[in-house]
Amino acid sequence: MQRIAVINQAGSVGKTTIATSLGHALALAGRRVTVVDLDPSGQLANGLGIFRAPSKGIDRVMMNGTTLGSVKMAVRDLLSLIPAGAELLQMEDNQTQGATRMQLLRQATEGQLVDQAFVLFDAPSSSALLMMNAIFAADELLIPVTTDSSSLNGAMKTLLLVKRLTPYLEKPVAARILINRYLPRSRDGKAVVEKLEKHFSTLCLETRIREGAAIEACAGIGRTVFEYKPGSHSAREFHELAKELVMLHDRNKPAIV
Ligand SMILES: Nc1ncnc2c1ncn2[C@@H]1O[C@H](COP(=O)(O)OP(=O)(O)OP(=O)(O)O)[C@@H](O)[C@H]1O
Ligand SMILES: [Mg+2]
Repeated sequence: MQRIAVINQAGSVGKTTIATSLGHALALAGRRVTVVDLDPSGQLANGLGIFRAPSKGIDRVMMNGTTLGSVKMAVRDLLSLIPAGAELLQMEDNQTQGATRMQLLRQATEGQLVDQAFVLFDAPSSSALLMMNAIFAADELLIPVTTDSSSLNGAMKTLLLVKRLTPYLEKPVAARILINRYLPRSRDGKAVVEKLEKHFSTLCLETRIREGAAIEACAGIGRTVFEYKPGSHSAREFHELAKELVMLHDRNKPAIV
């Protein structure tokens, strides 16, 4: 099982969009997937058509020891959702002290969801504590970067945060950068890609998600891009992204002797 945190300290870079569309693409490719809404605003649930998400979710799992199984809901074939829960917003008030505060999610999810091929965390940019919990719980970070320079700054800050946390992590966490809202013909787009390739070439995924009208339109109506416009270039790009990630993970899997 691979746990991936979709994360960037910058807001509006497409974290929720990517968690939703990649989650569904992986499920359509035959993998069992659970997406976890770590953002108190609950946008991930909305994007999957759950407009009145249950009040209990990952908040209870992290704070009260509720099992993941009891808050997990099936949302599509092979795709499950763990909603944020009404009390996730109060997470910052949690009185747990020291490093344990950053590891509540890891501790609460360890050894669970083992039948899932992928678990995707939709990390919020609004809470440093929830972001750190996502980093501790993940095997890998997927950092969306758009052609907006603030998203590149956010990505760099996220990588710095990971570096600061590294001494406390049980094992190193991998990071991959995904270029989102790419406009191949725009000057800004080219400039950001050049910068990324100069500084982070080994981290950049080959797949790029272009600006897509279908993506923008489908989120508000609770359908994924595969349901709203399966023939769109955005649907194709998310299939490609799922394929690239599956290939990377299958390649890195230790050989079974
Ligand atoms: N490739 C894309 N093409 C067109 N629109 C996109 C694309 N990616 C994201 N968007 C749009 O950008 C907006 C922000 O996306 P999203 O909510 O996924 O970002 P986020 O990083 O999760 O934001 P936040 O930090 O608030 O959680 C949404 O309206 C979404 O539909
Ligand atoms: Mg979001």
